[in-house]
Amino acid sequence: MASLWVTKPLRVLLQENLDETHALKRVLGPLNLTMLGVGGIIGAGIFVLTGQAAAQYAGPGIVLSFIFSAIACAFAGLCYAEFASMIPVAGSAYTYAYATMGEFCAWIIGWDLVLEYLFGASTVAVGWSGYVVSFLRDWGVHLPAALTNSPLIYDVKTGWQTSGAIINLPAVLIIAAITALLVVGIKESSKFNDAIVITKVCVVLLFIAFGFKFIHPENWHPFIPPNDGTFGHYGWSGVLRGAGVIFFAYIGFDAISTTAQEAKNPQRDMPIGILGSLAVCTVLYVLVALVLTGIVKYDKLLVPDPMAVGVDTAGPGLFWLRPIIKLGAVAGLSSVILVMLMGQPRVFYAMAKDGLLPKGFASIHPRFRTPHVTTILTGSVAAAFAGFFPIGILGEMVSIGTLLAFAIVCAGIIILRRTHPDAHRPFRTPLVPWVPALGVATALIQMAGLPLGTWLRLIVWMAIGFCIYFGYGRHHSKLGNPTR
Ligand code: ALA
Repeated sequence: MASLWVTKPLRVLLQENLDETHALKRVLGPLNLTMLGVGGIIGAGIFVLTGQAAAQYAGPGIVLSFIFSAIACAFAGLCYAEFASMIPVAGSAYTYAYATMGEFCAWIIGWDLVLEYLFGASTVAVGWSGYVVSFLRDWGVHLPAALTNSPLIYDVKTGWQTSGAIINLPAVLIIAAITALLVVGIKESSKFNDAIVITKVCVVLLFIAFGFKFIHPENWHPFIPPNDGTFGHYGWSGVLRGAGVIFFAYIGFDAISTTAQEAKNPQRDMPIGILGSLAVCTVLYVLVALVLTGIVKYDKLLVPDPMAVGVDTAGPGLFWLRPIIKLGAVAGLSSVILVMLMGQPRVFYAMAKDGLLPKGFASIHPRFRTPHVTTILTGSVAAAFAGFFPIGILGEMVSIGTLLAFAIVCAGIIILRRTHPDAHRPFRTPLVPWVPALGVATALIQMAGLPLGTWLRLIVWMAIGFCIYFGYGRHHSKLGNPTR
Protein backbone atom coordinates (compact mmCIF):
# COMPACT_ATOMS: atom_id res chain seq x y z
CA MET A 1 0.00 0.00 0.00
CA ALA A 2 1.39 3.40 -0.94
CA SER A 3 2.08 6.18 1.52
CA LEU A 4 -0.69 8.41 2.80
CA TRP A 5 1.04 11.29 1.07
CA VAL A 6 1.16 9.82 -2.44
CA THR A 7 0.26 12.55 -4.91
CA LYS A 8 -1.56 12.10 -8.17
CA PRO A 9 0.77 13.21 -10.97
CA LEU A 10 -0.44 16.17 -13.00
CA ARG A 11 0.04 14.32 -16.30
CA VAL A 12 -2.22 11.48 -15.05
CA LEU A 13 -4.90 13.99 -14.10
CA LEU A 14 -4.74 15.72 -17.44
CA GLN A 15 -4.77 12.42 -19.34
CA GLU A 16 -7.83 11.28 -17.35
CA ASN A 17 -9.47 14.53 -18.27
CA LEU A 18 -8.92 13.79 -21.97
CA ASP A 19 -10.21 10.23 -21.56
CA GLU A 20 -13.31 11.58 -19.84
CA THR A 21 -14.46 13.61 -22.80
CA HIS A 22 -17.30 11.18 -23.43
CA ALA A 23 -18.50 10.91 -19.84
CA LEU A 24 -19.92 14.24 -18.74
CA LYS A 25 -21.29 16.62 -21.39
CA ARG A 26 -19.20 19.72 -22.25
CA VAL A 27 -21.94 22.28 -22.65
CA LEU A 28 -21.18 25.24 -20.37
CA GLY A 29 -19.80 28.52 -21.78
CA PRO A 30 -18.36 31.53 -19.93
CA LEU A 31 -21.76 33.15 -19.44
CA ASN A 32 -23.32 29.92 -18.10
CA LEU A 33 -20.42 29.57 -15.68
CA THR A 34 -20.69 33.16 -14.43
CA MET A 35 -24.44 32.68 -14.07
CA LEU A 36 -23.85 29.48 -12.11
CA GLY A 37 -21.48 31.42 -9.85
CA VAL A 38 -24.00 34.21 -9.27
CA GLY A 39 -26.68 31.52 -8.83
CA GLY A 40 -24.64 29.91 -6.09
CA ILE A 41 -23.63 33.14 -4.37
CA ILE A 42 -26.68 35.43 -4.03
CA GLY A 43 -28.94 33.85 -1.44
CA ALA A 44 -29.58 33.65 2.27
CA GLY A 45 -26.51 35.77 2.97
CA ILE A 46 -27.84 38.96 1.39
CA PHE A 47 -31.56 38.25 1.81
CA VAL A 48 -31.34 37.18 5.48
CA LEU A 49 -28.00 37.81 7.19
CA THR A 50 -27.20 41.40 6.10
CA GLY A 51 -29.70 42.98 8.45
CA GLN A 52 -28.64 40.93 11.44
CA ALA A 53 -24.95 41.64 10.88
CA ALA A 54 -25.61 45.39 10.53
CA ALA A 55 -27.86 45.54 13.60
CA GLN A 56 -25.67 43.48 15.89
CA TYR A 57 -22.09 44.13 14.81
CA ALA A 58 -21.23 46.74 12.23
CA GLY A 59 -24.04 49.29 11.72
CA PRO A 60 -23.73 50.97 8.30
CA GLY A 61 -20.09 49.80 8.47
CA ILE A 62 -21.50 46.50 7.16
CA VAL A 63 -20.67 48.04 3.78
CA LEU A 64 -16.99 47.81 4.76
CA SER A 65 -17.55 44.27 6.09
CA PHE A 66 -18.79 43.28 2.64
CA ILE A 67 -15.68 44.79 1.06
CA PHE A 68 -13.32 43.04 3.54
CA SER A 69 -15.00 39.70 3.09
CA ALA A 70 -14.89 40.11 -0.69
CA ILE A 71 -11.14 40.76 -0.55
CA ALA A 72 -10.63 37.60 1.55
CA CYS A 73 -12.75 35.62 -0.93
CA ALA A 74 -10.85 37.14 -3.85
CA PHE A 75 -7.57 35.65 -2.53
CA ALA A 76 -9.22 32.23 -2.56
CA GLY A 77 -11.00 32.99 -5.85
CA LEU A 78 -7.70 33.75 -7.60
CA CYS A 79 -6.23 30.47 -6.34
CA TYR A 80 -9.32 28.50 -7.42
CA ALA A 81 -9.06 30.17 -10.83
CA GLU A 82 -5.45 29.01 -11.30
CA PHE A 83 -6.25 25.44 -10.27
CA ALA A 84 -9.52 25.22 -12.19
CA SER A 85 -7.88 26.37 -15.42
CA MET A 86 -4.84 24.16 -14.88
CA ILE A 87 -6.59 20.97 -13.71
CA PRO A 88 -10.10 21.26 -15.17
CA VAL A 89 -11.66 18.14 -13.63
CA ALA A 90 -14.84 17.60 -11.64
CA GLY A 91 -13.26 17.10 -8.22
CA SER A 92 -12.39 20.76 -7.55
CA ALA A 93 -10.43 21.30 -4.32
CA TYR A 94 -10.31 17.53 -3.71
CA THR A 95 -8.41 16.97 -6.95
CA TYR A 96 -6.16 19.99 -6.40
CA ALA A 97 -5.15 18.57 -3.01
CA TYR A 98 -4.54 15.12 -4.56
CA ALA A 99 -2.10 16.70 -7.00
CA THR A 100 -0.27 18.74 -4.38
CA MET A 101 -0.51 17.37 -0.85
CA GLY A 102 -1.23 13.70 -1.28
CA GLU A 103 -4.08 11.26 -0.95
CA PHE A 104 -4.77 11.70 2.74
CA CYS A 105 -5.12 15.51 2.45
CA ALA A 106 -7.24 14.99 -0.66
CA TRP A 107 -9.55 12.72 1.31
CA ILE A 108 -9.76 15.29 4.12
CA ILE A 109 -10.72 18.03 1.70
CA GLY A 110 -13.15 15.83 -0.23
CA TRP A 111 -14.89 14.88 2.99
CA ASP A 112 -14.76 18.50 4.11
CA LEU A 113 -16.44 19.71 0.91
CA VAL A 114 -19.49 17.68 1.94
CA LEU A 115 -19.88 20.24 4.70
CA GLU A 116 -19.85 23.09 2.22
CA TYR A 117 -22.06 21.68 -0.50
CA LEU A 118 -24.35 19.12 1.11
CA PHE A 119 -24.86 21.02 4.37
CA GLY A 120 -24.94 24.26 2.35
CA ALA A 121 -27.90 22.98 0.35
CA SER A 122 -29.68 21.94 3.57
CA THR A 123 -29.05 25.32 5.22
CA VAL A 124 -30.36 27.33 2.32
CA ALA A 125 -33.36 24.98 1.93
CA VAL A 126 -34.35 25.79 5.52
CA GLY A 127 -34.02 29.53 4.69
CA TRP A 128 -36.10 28.95 1.54
CA SER A 129 -38.81 27.29 3.58
CA GLY A 130 -38.94 30.32 5.92
CA TYR A 131 -39.36 32.75 3.00
CA VAL A 132 -42.05 30.60 1.35
CA VAL A 133 -44.03 30.36 4.57
CA SER A 134 -43.79 34.14 5.05
CA PHE A 135 -44.68 34.87 1.39
CA LEU A 136 -47.76 32.64 1.56
CA ARG A 137 -48.76 34.15 4.89
CA ASP A 138 -48.79 37.61 3.27
CA TRP A 139 -51.37 36.18 0.84
CA GLY A 140 -53.51 34.66 3.61
CA VAL A 141 -52.25 31.07 3.22
CA HIS A 142 -51.14 29.65 6.58
CA LEU A 143 -49.08 26.47 6.49
CA PRO A 144 -49.12 24.40 9.73
CA ALA A 145 -46.12 25.13 11.97
CA ALA A 146 -45.68 21.39 12.70
CA LEU A 147 -44.88 20.79 9.04
CA THR A 148 -42.71 23.83 8.38
CA ASN A 149 -40.22 23.74 11.24
CA SER A 150 -37.33 21.63 12.42
CA PRO A 151 -38.29 19.07 15.09
CA LEU A 152 -34.89 19.62 16.73
CA ILE A 153 -33.64 22.89 18.16
CA TYR A 154 -30.27 23.71 19.66
CA ASP A 155 -29.52 26.24 22.36
CA VAL A 156 -25.99 26.95 23.57
CA LYS A 157 -27.15 26.85 27.21
CA THR A 158 -29.68 24.01 27.21
CA GLY A 159 -28.34 21.89 24.33
CA TRP A 160 -30.56 19.85 22.00
CA GLN A 161 -34.33 19.89 22.51
CA THR A 162 -37.42 18.93 20.56
CA SER A 163 -39.60 21.74 19.20
CA GLY A 164 -42.85 19.82 18.87
CA ALA A 165 -42.75 20.13 15.07
CA ILE A 166 -42.66 16.99 12.91
CA ILE A 167 -40.63 17.98 9.87
CA ASN A 168 -39.69 20.97 7.74
CA LEU A 169 -41.59 19.72 4.71
CA PRO A 170 -41.07 22.64 2.27
CA ALA A 171 -37.29 22.31 2.79
CA VAL A 172 -37.47 18.58 1.97
CA LEU A 173 -39.65 19.17 -1.09
CA ILE A 174 -37.45 21.86 -2.66
CA ILE A 175 -34.42 19.59 -2.34
CA ALA A 176 -36.33 16.68 -3.88
CA ALA A 177 -37.46 18.84 -6.82
CA ILE A 178 -33.99 20.22 -7.52
CA THR A 179 -32.40 16.78 -7.21
CA ALA A 180 -34.80 15.50 -9.88
CA LEU A 181 -33.84 18.40 -12.16
CA LEU A 182 -30.13 17.73 -11.67
CA VAL A 183 -30.55 14.07 -12.59
CA VAL A 184 -32.25 15.03 -15.85
CA GLY A 185 -29.39 17.16 -17.12
CA ILE A 186 -26.70 19.74 -16.57
CA LYS A 187 -27.91 21.83 -19.51
CA GLU A 188 -31.50 21.83 -18.23
CA SER A 189 -30.25 22.68 -14.74
CA SER A 190 -28.11 25.48 -16.09
CA LYS A 191 -31.06 26.92 -18.08
CA PHE A 192 -33.26 26.83 -14.98
CA ASN A 193 -30.45 28.53 -13.09
CA ASP A 194 -30.08 31.25 -15.76
CA ALA A 195 -33.78 32.14 -15.49
CA ILE A 196 -33.61 32.35 -11.72
CA VAL A 197 -30.39 34.34 -11.69
CA ILE A 198 -31.90 36.93 -14.02
CA THR A 199 -34.93 37.16 -11.71
CA LYS A 200 -32.95 37.57 -8.54
CA VAL A 201 -30.42 40.01 -9.97
CA CYS A 202 -33.37 42.11 -11.29
CA VAL A 203 -34.96 42.10 -7.83
CA VAL A 204 -31.69 43.22 -6.25
CA LEU A 205 -31.25 45.93 -8.91
CA LEU A 206 -34.85 47.13 -8.39
CA PHE A 207 -34.17 47.42 -4.68
CA ILE A 208 -31.01 49.44 -5.31
CA ALA A 209 -32.50 51.68 -8.03
CA PHE A 210 -35.81 52.48 -6.34
CA GLY A 211 -34.53 52.38 -2.76
CA PHE A 212 -31.87 54.95 -3.63
CA LYS A 213 -34.44 57.78 -3.63
CA PHE A 214 -35.54 56.93 -0.09
CA ILE A 215 -32.11 57.13 1.51
CA HIS A 216 -31.80 59.47 4.49
CA PRO A 217 -28.08 60.20 4.75
CA GLU A 218 -28.42 60.86 8.50
CA ASN A 219 -28.96 57.08 8.91
CA TRP A 220 -25.32 56.65 7.86
CA HIS A 221 -24.08 58.75 10.80
CA PRO A 222 -22.09 57.45 12.52
CA PHE A 223 -21.01 55.15 9.69
CA ILE A 224 -19.14 52.94 12.14
CA PRO A 225 -21.01 53.21 15.45
CA PRO A 226 -18.62 53.46 18.44
CA ASN A 227 -17.59 50.20 20.04
CA ASP A 228 -19.51 49.61 23.29
CA GLY A 229 -16.60 47.97 25.11
CA THR A 230 -17.22 44.41 23.89
CA PHE A 231 -15.11 43.02 21.05
CA GLY A 232 -17.17 42.72 17.89
CA HIS A 233 -19.96 44.96 19.08
CA TYR A 234 -19.63 47.93 16.69
CA GLY A 235 -16.43 49.86 16.07
CA TRP A 236 -13.75 48.35 13.83
CA SER A 237 -13.93 45.01 15.64
CA GLY A 238 -17.64 44.98 14.77
CA VAL A 239 -16.82 45.57 11.12
CA LEU A 240 -14.48 42.56 11.28
CA ARG A 241 -17.01 40.32 12.98
CA GLY A 242 -19.60 41.48 10.45
CA ALA A 243 -17.22 40.35 7.72
CA GLY A 244 -16.98 36.89 9.32
CA VAL A 245 -20.76 36.59 9.49
CA ILE A 246 -21.52 37.74 5.98
CA PHE A 247 -18.74 35.53 4.57
CA PHE A 248 -21.61 33.07 4.10
CA ALA A 249 -23.05 35.47 1.50
CA TYR A 250 -20.05 34.90 -0.81
CA ILE A 251 -19.88 31.11 -0.57
CA GLY A 252 -20.71 29.47 -3.87
CA PHE A 253 -18.29 30.96 -6.44
CA ASP A 254 -15.94 28.02 -5.88
CA ALA A 255 -18.70 25.53 -6.73
CA ILE A 256 -18.29 26.42 -10.40
CA SER A 257 -14.95 24.62 -10.37
CA THR A 258 -16.77 21.31 -9.85
CA THR A 259 -18.28 21.68 -13.32
CA ALA A 260 -14.89 22.10 -15.03
CA GLN A 261 -15.39 18.82 -16.86
CA GLU A 262 -18.66 20.09 -18.29
CA ALA A 263 -17.19 23.42 -19.46
CA LYS A 264 -16.54 23.87 -23.18
CA ASN A 265 -13.25 25.71 -22.69
CA PRO A 266 -12.35 25.41 -19.01
CA GLN A 267 -8.84 26.86 -19.36
CA ARG A 268 -10.23 30.21 -20.43
CA ASP A 269 -13.72 30.17 -18.93
CA MET A 270 -13.18 28.89 -15.39
CA PRO A 271 -11.30 32.03 -14.24
CA ILE A 272 -13.96 34.18 -15.97
CA GLY A 273 -16.78 32.35 -14.18
CA ILE A 274 -15.14 32.32 -10.75
CA LEU A 275 -13.78 35.86 -10.67
CA GLY A 276 -16.59 37.38 -12.74
CA SER A 277 -19.35 36.10 -10.47
CA LEU A 278 -17.43 37.18 -7.37
CA ALA A 279 -16.97 40.70 -8.81
CA VAL A 280 -20.64 41.06 -9.85
CA CYS A 281 -21.87 39.95 -6.43
CA THR A 282 -19.44 42.19 -4.56
CA VAL A 283 -20.74 45.27 -6.37
CA LEU A 284 -24.38 44.26 -5.80
CA TYR A 285 -23.81 43.46 -2.12
CA VAL A 286 -22.04 46.74 -1.37
CA LEU A 287 -24.82 48.74 -3.09
CA VAL A 288 -27.60 46.81 -1.30
CA ALA A 289 -25.86 47.38 2.04
CA LEU A 290 -25.49 51.12 1.33
CA VAL A 291 -29.11 51.54 0.28
CA LEU A 292 -30.49 49.37 3.08
CA THR A 293 -28.63 51.13 5.88
CA GLY A 294 -29.47 54.47 4.23
CA ILE A 295 -33.22 53.74 4.31
CA VAL A 296 -33.44 52.01 7.70
CA LYS A 297 -31.58 52.95 10.87
CA TYR A 298 -29.26 49.98 11.46
CA ASP A 299 -30.66 49.17 14.91
CA LYS A 300 -34.03 48.32 13.31
CA LEU A 301 -32.53 45.64 11.10
CA LEU A 302 -32.46 42.63 13.43
CA VAL A 303 -35.04 40.82 11.28
CA PRO A 304 -35.04 37.74 9.03
CA ASP A 305 -36.19 39.74 5.96
CA PRO A 306 -34.17 42.98 6.01
CA MET A 307 -34.83 43.99 2.40
CA ALA A 308 -38.59 43.67 2.90
CA VAL A 309 -38.25 45.83 6.02
CA GLY A 310 -36.27 48.35 3.96
CA VAL A 311 -39.16 48.58 1.51
CA ASP A 312 -41.72 48.96 4.32
CA THR A 313 -39.69 51.72 5.97
CA ALA A 314 -39.36 53.64 2.71
CA GLY A 315 -43.15 54.16 2.81
CA PRO A 316 -46.15 53.60 0.52
CA GLY A 317 -44.15 54.72 -2.52
CA LEU A 318 -42.23 51.45 -2.39
CA PHE A 319 -44.83 48.98 -1.03
CA TRP A 320 -45.28 47.45 -4.50
CA LEU A 321 -41.76 46.06 -4.21
CA ARG A 322 -42.45 43.95 -1.08
CA PRO A 323 -43.95 40.83 -2.73
CA ILE A 324 -41.40 41.09 -5.52
CA ILE A 325 -38.55 41.03 -3.01
CA LYS A 326 -39.96 37.95 -1.30
CA LEU A 327 -40.47 36.22 -4.61
CA GLY A 328 -36.91 37.16 -5.60
CA ALA A 329 -35.63 35.65 -2.37
CA VAL A 330 -37.58 32.42 -2.90
CA ALA A 331 -36.27 32.16 -6.45
CA GLY A 332 -32.78 33.23 -5.43
CA LEU A 333 -32.43 30.68 -2.68
CA SER A 334 -33.54 27.86 -4.96
CA SER A 335 -30.66 28.47 -7.36
CA VAL A 336 -28.19 28.41 -4.45
CA ILE A 337 -29.58 24.98 -3.53
CA LEU A 338 -29.20 23.93 -7.16
CA VAL A 339 -25.55 24.94 -7.39
CA MET A 340 -24.67 23.27 -4.08
CA LEU A 341 -26.48 20.05 -4.99
CA MET A 342 -24.71 20.11 -8.33
CA GLY A 343 -21.24 20.50 -6.76
CA GLN A 344 -21.39 17.69 -4.23
CA PRO A 345 -22.10 14.72 -6.54
CA ARG A 346 -19.26 15.82 -8.81
CA VAL A 347 -16.80 15.70 -5.93
CA PHE A 348 -18.08 12.22 -4.92
CA TYR A 349 -17.82 11.22 -8.58
CA ALA A 350 -14.15 12.23 -8.70
CA MET A 351 -13.44 10.42 -5.41
CA ALA A 352 -15.10 7.25 -6.66
CA LYS A 353 -13.14 7.36 -9.92
CA ASP A 354 -9.98 7.37 -7.80
CA GLY A 355 -11.24 4.36 -5.84
CA LEU A 356 -11.66 6.22 -2.56
CA LEU A 357 -15.43 5.62 -2.66
CA PRO A 358 -17.28 2.61 -4.11
CA LYS A 359 -17.43 2.37 -7.92
CA GLY A 360 -21.20 2.87 -7.99
CA PHE A 361 -20.65 6.49 -6.98
CA ALA A 362 -18.97 7.14 -10.32
CA SER A 363 -21.75 5.80 -12.50
CA ILE A 364 -23.17 8.10 -15.14
CA HIS A 365 -26.77 7.89 -16.27
CA PRO A 366 -26.77 6.30 -19.76
CA ARG A 367 -29.23 8.79 -21.22
CA PHE A 368 -28.88 11.99 -19.18
CA ARG A 369 -25.10 11.67 -18.73
CA THR A 370 -25.24 13.03 -15.20
CA PRO A 371 -23.78 11.42 -12.07
CA HIS A 372 -27.25 10.25 -11.05
CA VAL A 373 -26.34 7.87 -8.20
CA THR A 374 -24.38 10.48 -6.26
CA THR A 375 -26.92 13.19 -7.13
CA ILE A 376 -29.76 11.14 -5.63
CA LEU A 377 -27.69 10.13 -2.62
CA THR A 378 -26.64 13.73 -1.96
CA GLY A 379 -30.22 14.96 -2.39
CA SER A 380 -31.59 12.34 0.02
CA VAL A 381 -29.09 13.10 2.78
CA ALA A 382 -29.42 16.88 2.27
CA ALA A 383 -33.22 16.55 2.44
CA ALA A 384 -32.99 14.61 5.70
CA PHE A 385 -30.75 17.26 7.30
CA ALA A 386 -32.97 20.07 6.00
CA GLY A 387 -36.09 18.33 7.31
CA PHE A 388 -34.86 17.75 10.84
CA PHE A 389 -32.09 20.19 11.80
CA PRO A 390 -32.14 23.91 12.65
CA ILE A 391 -30.56 26.49 10.30
CA GLY A 392 -27.99 27.87 12.78
CA ILE A 393 -26.15 24.59 13.34
CA LEU A 394 -26.16 23.77 9.64
CA GLY A 395 -24.90 27.23 8.63
CA GLU A 396 -21.92 27.18 10.99
CA MET A 397 -20.83 23.81 9.63
CA VAL A 398 -20.97 25.26 6.13
CA SER A 399 -18.75 28.21 7.07
CA ILE A 400 -16.09 26.17 8.84
CA GLY A 401 -16.03 23.57 6.07
CA THR A 402 -15.71 26.18 3.33
CA LEU A 403 -12.97 28.11 5.13
CA LEU A 404 -10.96 24.92 5.57
CA ALA A 405 -11.32 24.19 1.87
CA PHE A 406 -10.19 27.74 0.99
CA ALA A 407 -7.12 27.45 3.24
CA ILE A 408 -6.08 24.14 1.67
CA VAL A 409 -6.61 25.35 -1.90
CA CYS A 410 -4.54 28.50 -1.27
CA ALA A 411 -1.74 26.46 0.33
CA GLY A 412 -1.89 24.10 -2.66
CA ILE A 413 -1.03 26.95 -5.05
CA ILE A 414 2.19 27.69 -3.18
CA ILE A 415 3.13 23.98 -3.15
CA LEU A 416 2.38 23.39 -6.84
CA ARG A 417 4.37 26.45 -7.90
CA ARG A 418 7.37 24.84 -6.17
CA THR A 419 6.86 21.23 -7.22
CA HIS A 420 5.76 22.00 -10.81
CA PRO A 421 7.14 25.43 -11.66
CA ASP A 422 6.94 24.81 -15.41
CA ALA A 423 3.46 23.29 -15.68
CA HIS A 424 1.11 24.99 -18.13
CA ARG A 425 -0.94 27.57 -16.22
CA PRO A 426 -3.55 29.24 -18.45
CA PHE A 427 -4.37 31.52 -15.51
CA ARG A 428 -1.76 32.54 -12.93
CA THR A 429 -2.61 33.77 -9.45
CA PRO A 430 -0.78 37.12 -9.14
CA LEU A 431 1.85 37.88 -6.50
CA VAL A 432 2.52 34.29 -5.37
CA PRO A 433 3.23 33.50 -2.55
CA TRP A 434 1.63 36.63 -1.05
CA VAL A 435 -1.91 36.27 -2.40
CA PRO A 436 -2.27 32.57 -1.46
CA ALA A 437 -0.56 33.16 1.90
CA LEU A 438 -3.04 35.94 2.67
CA GLY A 439 -5.80 33.57 1.53
CA VAL A 440 -4.67 30.96 4.06
CA ALA A 441 -4.30 33.56 6.81
CA THR A 442 -7.72 35.19 6.28
CA ALA A 443 -9.43 31.79 6.16
CA LEU A 444 -7.74 30.62 9.37
CA ILE A 445 -8.54 33.89 11.17
CA GLN A 446 -12.20 33.57 10.27
CA MET A 447 -12.23 29.92 11.36
CA ALA A 448 -10.72 30.93 14.70
CA GLY A 449 -13.68 33.24 15.27
CA LEU A 450 -16.24 30.41 15.03
CA PRO A 451 -17.71 28.88 18.22
CA LEU A 452 -16.04 25.95 19.99
CA GLY A 453 -19.08 23.73 19.37
CA THR A 454 -18.63 24.16 15.62
CA TRP A 455 -14.99 23.09 15.93
CA LEU A 456 -16.02 20.01 17.91
CA ARG A 457 -18.57 19.06 15.27
CA LEU A 458 -15.90 19.54 12.60
CA ILE A 459 -13.60 17.17 14.50
CA VAL A 460 -16.37 14.56 14.84
CA TRP A 461 -17.17 14.89 11.13
CA MET A 462 -13.51 14.44 10.24
CA ALA A 463 -13.23 11.42 12.58
CA ILE A 464 -16.10 9.76 10.69
CA GLY A 465 -14.26 10.57 7.46
CA PHE A 466 -11.03 8.99 8.75
CA CYS A 467 -12.91 5.78 9.61
CA ILE A 468 -14.24 5.58 6.04
CA TYR A 469 -10.82 6.31 4.55
CA PHE A 470 -8.90 3.78 6.64
CA GLY A 471 -11.77 1.27 6.45
CA TYR A 472 -12.31 1.54 2.70
CA GLY A 473 -10.57 4.22 0.64
CA ARG A 474 -6.98 3.36 1.50
CA HIS A 475 -7.47 -0.28 0.49
CA HIS A 476 -9.27 0.55 -2.75
CA SER A 477 -7.35 3.62 -3.89
CA LYS A 478 -6.27 3.18 -7.51
CA LEU A 479 -3.13 5.18 -6.97
CA GLY A 480 -2.18 3.41 -3.74
CA ASN A 481 -2.98 -0.09 -5.12
CA PRO A 482 -2.07 0.02 -8.80
CA THR A 483 -2.65 -3.70 -9.29
CA ARG A 484 -6.31 -3.65 -8.26
N1 ALA B 1 -23.83 32.43 -0.65
C1 ALA B 1 -24.94 31.58 -0.44
C2 ALA B 1 -26.03 32.28 0.25
O1 ALA B 1 -25.87 33.40 0.67
C3 ALA B 1 -24.55 30.34 0.28
O2 ALA B 1 -27.10 31.73 0.37
